[in-house]
Amino acid sequence: MDSSLRPPRGFEDISGERAERFRRVVDTCVMILRSHSFEEIILPVVEFADLFERSIGEVTDIVQKEMFVFPDRKGRLLALRPEGTAGAVRAFINKRMWVSRPYHRLYYQGPMFRYERPQAGRYRQFHQVGAEIFGSDSPLADAEIIGIVHRILSELSVDFSLEINSIGCKNCRPTYRKELLGFLDSKREELCGDCQRRMDRNPLRVLDCKVETCRVAVADSPKTTDYLCEECRQHFDRLREALDSYGITYTLNTNLVRGLDYYTRTVFEAVSPSTGSAIVAGGRYDYLVEELGGPPTPALGFAVGVERVMLELGEDGQDKSKRVLVIPFGDVGGFALKVADRLRDEGWTVELSLRRGGLKKQLEFANRIGAEWVAIVGEDEVAKGGYTLKDMASGEQKFISLQR
Ligand code: HAM
Repeated sequence: MDSSLRPPRGFEDISGERAERFRRVVDTCVMILRSHSFEEIILPVVEFADLFERSIGEVTDIVQKEMFVFPDRKGRLLALRPEGTAGAVRAFINKRMWVSRPYHRLYYQGPMFRYERPQAGRYRQFHQVGAEIFGSDSPLADAEIIGIVHRILSELSVDFSLEINSIGCKNCRPTYRKELLGFLDSKREELCGDCQRRMDRNPLRVLDCKVETCRVAVADSPKTTDYLCEECRQHFDRLREALDSYGITYTLNTNLVRGLDYYTRTVFEAVSPSTGSAIVAGGRYDYLVEELGGPPTPALGFAVGVERVMLELGEDGQDKSKRVLVIPFGDVGGFALKVADRLRDEGWTVELSLRRGGLKKQLEFANRIGAEWVAIVGEDEVAKGGYTLKDMASGEQKFISLQR
């Protein structure tokens, strides 16, 4: 095949049954977010590159290795967004949203771009549904956010385990960082090349390195939770109590630090037991709004990795509505469209056959597209004001009048 017809590596066309799964994941997220009073914000796919440097962090993998960056015609550096939080924060500040309400709940959806090495569940263009709350430092907001993740994945019947941690704030993280550096120094020889470099600039990232020798080396590293200041400790305790009384099960993973620099206090991931990778992830970022030029505004959120969740979907929950092929015969014009609409109103999934050919060909076509029923609309049916409904499995058929 002409190779220019293939999408670039890590990009894909999502069609057929996968498109159905995609829609099911996105629609479920949106339905649940709207029921929690989140409002949609439609963000640009392109931002100035430095927005991501300033938010995600200059020494993160995303910014150093994974961004699609290109100059515009005036030479300003733009980037395809690798995630949605930075853009949401920019919009929050740009629109001075804090003026209209004490806090905001926003959600967004769409493609994100990271120049990663593609593999199962990892693409260069992937999709997220993300949600952010701006303006609350209450642990109840953390519990609500984690509760939403729980509801989305439960509604989709996806298996997951929830891992949470607290990585502290400006006051307590430096002490922890120092302690961790001391520990990592003693393990320097056992760490991979990347981690040896990370140690000096971003030691927390060593904790979530996926290389096996690094995982073993940091297994008994100092725990973030042992170094929390009084406020962070209380915040985390209250979150855990809220999750317990809400009935959400989680595990505490003190090595969970996340790959983006903006996080403070609570971080969490919903992890797939089959692949071990995060399918949904998020946390608090209490300084980011201020760091990007807004007023001090505590904030938090999460993003669902749509393709990752799609991989976890079972068969159940698929569209179970009855599928019918409406077959017009002869010159029946708009009457066939009327029959099709009536069936839709009754809850059927309806396809109007645009195929030419006699009954045999039409019935073969119905089988091919998985229609369990056909509705035949010929001149006789038009004269009687209805259609003939045929059950493909039993062959039984009956006339149904539109006058009912
Ligand atoms: P993140 O962990 O970088 O967080 O991405 C969130 C989710 O996007 C991941 O858990 C994963 O499911 C999915 N994902 C990431 N990279 C890829 C990829 N290359 N291919 C397929 N799926 C991928 C964020 O993006 C934060 N903005 C989340 C957040 C919102 N935190 C606070 N608010």
